[in-house]
Amino acid sequence: MNYFCGINRMKEGTDFEKKHTPFIECPEVVKADEYFEVKVTTGIPHPMEDGHFIQWIELFMSDIYLARVDFTQFMKPEIVFVVKAPSKGHDKFTLKALMRCNLHGIWEYEKEVKVE
Ligand SMILES: [Fe+2]
Repeated sequence: MNYFCGINRMKEGTDFEKKHTPFIECPEVVKADEYFEVKVTTGIPHPMEDGHFIQWIELFMSDIYLARVDFTQFMKPEIVFVVKAPSKGHDKFTLKALMRCNLHGIWEYEKEVKVE
């Protein structure tokens, strides 16, 4: 299978998929205009060695780019972003994380968050 043909997503819940999916942990509901924490990490630890490692994680709110962190093989691919919730008038939004493995391509995960 060629993992570089597009963006990969969890389909069957295999350990391989869990190693490459950038799971998002954050509150289900956030307050408008307030900061909240968004943790992104794999479900199962991914190898971090010279020939095989996670290169970066990016975070988006809906399709708006928020931030990116680059990793070397000396790091654990885990990060906590502090994100500002949208202003009043938005009742929900989607957070999207992308993560790239140098051998297995880009993987995506999405989570919907409500605003109060
Ligand atoms: Fe990998």
